[in-house]
Amino acid sequence: MNVGIAGTGRMGAAIATRLLRQGHTVTVWNRTPAKLAPLVAAGAKAVDTPAALAAASETIITILTDAAAIEATYHGPSGLLAGDVKGKLFIEMSTVLPETAQALAEKVRAKGAAIVECPVGGTTGPARDGKLFGFVGATDADFARAKPLLEQMCRRIEHVGLAGAGSRMKLAINLPLLVYWQAFGEALALVQPLKLDPKRVIDIFADTSGGTNVLKARGSVVAAALEGKDTGPVGFDIDSMRKDLRTMIAAGEALGVDMPVTGRALEAFENAAAAGFGKRDGTTWPAYWALHGKLR
Ligand SMILES: NC(=O)c1ccc[n+]([C@@H]2O[C@H](COP(=O)([O-])OP(=O)(O)OC[C@H]3O[C@@H](n4cnc5c(N)ncnc54)[C@H](OP(=O)(O)O)[C@@H]3O)[C@@H](O)[C@H]2O)c1
Repeated sequence: MNVGIAGTGRMGAAIATRLLRQGHTVTVWNRTPAKLAPLVAAGAKAVDTPAALAAASETIITILTDAAAIEATYHGPSGLLAGDVKGKLFIEMSTVLPETAQALAEKVRAKGAAIVECPVGGTTGPARDGKLFGFVGATDADFARAKPLLEQMCRRIEHVGLAGAGSRMKLAINLPLLVYWQAFGEALALVQPLKLDPKRVIDIFADTSGGTNVLKARGSVVAAALEGKDTGPVGFDIDSMRKDLRTMIAAGEALGVDMPVTGRALEAFENAAAAGFGKRDGTTWPAYWALHGKLR
């Protein structure tokens, strides 16, 4: 299939790699063209504008930072929707407000194209391995059309409603996770005086109610960070966590829901960003908090 990917940041590049390995013809566009080079070396074709990407592709995937990035990529003068896109399929995978996904779906449908919203759980490793968890908001017909391709990207797909439903579910899933990273840092600070082997501490937590599922996949990274070791490439950084927490609070406000714990977690990450830690991998955060305590 001719697949286009607009936005080859960490996740977009990982998904492009996956689809190239699955044998698809992959066209790529990114605002910062330098990020395209490794994908071109792996067999992708680079184009200069989102409009050219849409023209070259039957299915167009986007995975971008936020609503402003969606606005620029879809609706700019050389945007994805600038040309004739009738009959094409868009798959939008960014983590944004439900209202952003709904508004985009309306604009795409007005151009005679199909759209599936599918924000994902899982980071760059699962994206490269086709093991993401997709939260789909779409009509049944559009979902049926996208499903075979989504199945090559995701280990599990849940179709939870129309456009906006996937974003709502994705934000809800990330909420306890992001709050947990802060809570886990505070818990690890409490056991620091015991001077136990970090791997053992993580293993104990992972086997109790004080641990969560994420420790199975990422516990070794937390242990490495506690040991002061290199934790490898950044997957989901503190700036992205801040963006997600802000989006969750906005989604809560739209429903009239108070979120005091989410707000406090955001405050901790805002302080971290102000101190220059925004580009650090979020998984290293509990260790940082345990070792260095408050940033304020
Ligand atoms: N990383 C993860 O583990 C993970 C997991 C699940 C979901 N997500 C979600 O996936 C999305 C992408 O995350 P990521 O980690 O891949 O982020 P990233 O590496 O920072 O990539 C962001 C992408 O958005 C583009 N972008 C940002 N602002 C733009 C604008 N105004 N106009 C056009 N393009 C713009 C960037 O282009 P440039 O290269 O030019 O900056 C880049 O291609 C986010 O919504 C994130 O919450 C991430």
